[in-house]
Amino acid sequence: MSNLAINGGKKVFEVPANIPSWPPVYEDTADEIREIYLSHAWSFYGKKEVEFNNEFAKYTGANCCAMMANGTVTLEVAMQALGIGPGDEVIVPAYTWIATGEAVVVVGATPVIVDIDPATFCIDPAKIEEAITAKTKAIIPVHLYGSMADMDKIMAIAKKHNLFVIEDCAHAHGGEWNGKHVGTIGDVGSFSFQQSKTVASGEGGACITNDEALGEKMGRISHIGYQYAAKQGQASTPPPIGLICHNYRITEFQALILLSQLRNLRRDTETRAASAEFLREKLNAIDGITVQEKGRCATLQGYYMLGVRIDSDRLKEGITRAEFAQAVNAEDAPVSTGWGNLMNRQKLWSVPESMYRIESCAVAERLATKELITIPLQWLMCTREELAKLAEAFAKVAAEYIR
Ligand SMILES: Cc1ncc(COP(=O)(O)O)c(C=O)c1O
Repeated sequence: MSNLAINGGKKVFEVPANIPSWPPVYEDTADEIREIYLSHAWSFYGKKEVEFNNEFAKYTGANCCAMMANGTVTLEVAMQALGIGPGDEVIVPAYTWIATGEAVVVVGATPVIVDIDPATFCIDPAKIEEAITAKTKAIIPVHLYGSMADMDKIMAIAKKHNLFVIEDCAHAHGGEWNGKHVGTIGDVGSFSFQQSKTVASGEGGACITNDEALGEKMGRISHIGYQYAAKQGQASTPPPIGLICHNYRITEFQALILLSQLRNLRRDTETRAASAEFLREKLNAIDGITVQEKGRCATLQGYYMLGVRIDSDRLKEGITRAEFAQAVNAEDAPVSTGWGNLMNRQKLWSVPESMYRIESCAVAERLATKELITIPLQWLMCTREELAKLAEAFAKVAAEYIR
């Protein structure tokens, strides 16, 4: 007789977990937003934008930071500033949000989609090397959910083949690889501050770099050609001819919200990392379940989610990953199943087959379509008792659905 909640049994969470609402809000920030509103100074290299650029550069240890409208245009601007365009190929992982690949198409280059590592779910360095051609110009590793791509191996490949590396850090704020903040190891680090992200302002993004000339270019591209920290209507020098610029500006409201979150980022990253370790131990102890591994050299892991793999070979006849997740949800333990497919098979992907190349991606396909369950960020702010119950919900479902 099944005692799963989905079959009418008692829920593991008789009282729902106190999962915090996301993004976080602070009363003092609400007051400061009012001040900005009343000041009439809402945009254009305002005080808060410049302050966030300085603070985020300091936090990450980068030389420059350029805030922008979102974490898709940051990828585009990074590629444009590096001179990537038509005729070039850019290697991207098969399991990521479509923006990683579509940004490559927007700048006129060709995304080359390669497989991921089965343990970290991030791009597999061996597959990168196999996909390199004379046209390859760059690699975009994505530090996915709660892990990090192997930056040492990727940088060695990039050096050997003279390639640029743009780290897609949309999921990895606060993460450190061998003590270095993600985004500072490659040529550019691209961040998203979209509202589900670890650091969130509704919409928003930033590029960081250690190369000041590159930082200056990225600032100009995203500010329709203006030099850094310019006042509106006061361009001192023009952008170089051929550097096609755009308006991807962020507003003062967003910069203020991000500054308020940056103050707590280290503390919150450490809290989430400790919660993830607690869950990792409990979930890895369940037969048929393995938690996404941390980055090989993670000295501090920044979590956006915790990825969990349900071994599809071990699921009982007729049981799917979706049903497993639904059964966990029915215990009042909300979890999700990720994007559900490879980047080029997600519903919103609109790039014709002639405009990208995909290598064999069996690892990503199995994970994305049959095995991945994601535990959202907010869980990692819950108490140990709640996390223990979340693991209990997985164990309870596994006892019935895994053989
Ligand atoms: C891996 C990855 N890269 C880039 C982006 C794009 O960020 P944005 O939504 O801010 O444009 C996202 C957004 O979810 C993402 O998950």
